[in-house]
Amino acid sequence: MPRHLVRFMALAVTMGLTCEAWAESKSLDVFTRRILPIMNSAKPSSCAECHLSGVDLKDYIRADQAETFAALVKGGMIDAKQPKKSKLLEFISRTPAKPSLVSADVRKEELAAFTAWIEEAVRDPELLKAKASSESLGPKLPIEVVRHARNDRVLASFIDNVWVEATRCAACHSPLLNKEQVKKHGEQVSWMTPDDPAATLKHLVEAGLIDTKEPTKSLLLLKPTMQVKHGGGIKMVVGDRSYKQFRKFLEDYAAMSAGKYQTADELPKRDEEVSRIGEVWFKLTDVPEGFDKQLLQVDLYRQDTKSKSGWSKARWATSDRQVFGKGKLWQHSLSITAPRDSARAKELIAKPTLPPGKYLVKIYVDRAARLEKDWQAELGEKDFVGQIEVDSRWPGGYGSMTAAKFPTR
Ligand code: HEC
Ligand code: HEC
Repeated sequence: MPRHLVRFMALAVTMGLTCEAWAESKSLDVFTRRILPIMNSAKPSSCAECHLSGVDLKDYIRADQAETFAALVKGGMIDAKQPKKSKLLEFISRTPAKPSLVSADVRKEELAAFTAWIEEAVRDPELLKAKASSESLGPKLPIEVVRHARNDRVLASFIDNVWVEATRCAACHSPLLNKEQVKKHGEQVSWMTPDDPAATLKHLVEAGLIDTKEPTKSLLLLKPTMQVKHGGGIKMVVGDRSYKQFRKFLEDYAAMSAGKYQTADELPKRDEEVSRIGEVWFKLTDVPEGFDKQLLQVDLYRQDTKSKSGWSKARWATSDRQVFGKGKLWQHSLSITAPRDSARAKELIAKPTLPPGKYLVKIYVDRAARLEKDWQAELGEKDFVGQIEVDSRWPGGYGSMTAAKFPTR
């Protein structure tokens, strides 16, 4: 028994405290020694392993024991009849498939502390009589915000927005392919972990390549756009598709990390389209030289004889990149696209290919450099410069890319 408890017991006996008071002091002792330090700790609780923000074990503790207990019972988090079955203990016990060692230790201590305290507290008649104030314990944020900031959802968004686009960075940044770059520049160029987006995200944050305070200052954006010198040269331009996807994720990640979202309305809108970059390349020749360095976007619609227009309503692929004026050339790999939740979306996530056949290619050029000024702007009818029909097997690989002539009007 800890020395101060022995002293306390001796004192209790001298003062002739009743059994009830003894129970109370024991639960209070556990509360003070083991629960309050959790509330006052600057470190995140074990919940952080699955919740980037929005919930913390601290939300379930108040400075006053009776108030904490009464509110937890009222909120259904403590089961006074079967303390071991308390929902709060269940929350704390949740463990991810691959827990980190640090949070495993934190979790063990939290669970031991709350188990010990709850078991003492439910034996204390004074505590059982305590009335809960109207304020309930637990997360104060709307459920949508809590859900949005869950790590499984954060990872899904990272995959949709960054991981997918980063296939374009893999030649120099995946350890499977970048021996030359590593020899020349050092191990830090290997910021991708093959087949492991979760590990990649973790590394990007820990290595400081994602700036969670000022997302636009992230090297992950500054390097490939050459806003900061980049060994790989220019890999995206401000406002293009990859930039948009990266930036969307980075802004959202920073907002969640800082706990900025307070209402469901502030959450970013769900992307209604799913995309994956496949092996299919597409080239336009005879592009007007005047479009040099301007961002050109193609949208591909599949032939659909049953529809009135003769083409699919949703696009099947898209791509954008700057025009190489001198070569009268535009070429890039295609992002295969489908409406989210459609059967085709599932197929393309498993295998992003374009079925053979005829497609309508609509072409847009950002002649006014609108996207550079406003990265959230989208190209539309005003930027439309022409369309062509292209029939191809759409084979994969840079060497077998489908080519077409820029339309003359
Ligand atoms: C192993 C991962 C994991 C850990 C650790 C974890 N949670 Fe969760 N939590 C989830 C998942 C997944 C959901 C949503 C689905 C569900 O409720 O099963 C969730 C849902 C919640 C919700 C309800 C929100 C909703 O969607 O209805 C709250 C509140 C919550 N967790 C609090 C906590 C607290 C507090 C801790 C730490 C003591 C914690 N969680 C630890 C995975 C975890
Ligand atoms: C042709 C090769 C090549 C490609 C493709 C490439 N990079 Fe790089 N990148 C490099 C080299 C070489 C370095 C190391 C020198 C430097 O820091 O600029 C580097 C460095 C970086 C760094 C800094 C890493 C660190 O820890 O210091 C980031 C971030 C980065 N690149 C992002 C990207 C992104 C994002 C893409 C894809 C959109 C990309 N790169 C595509 C060659 C490439």
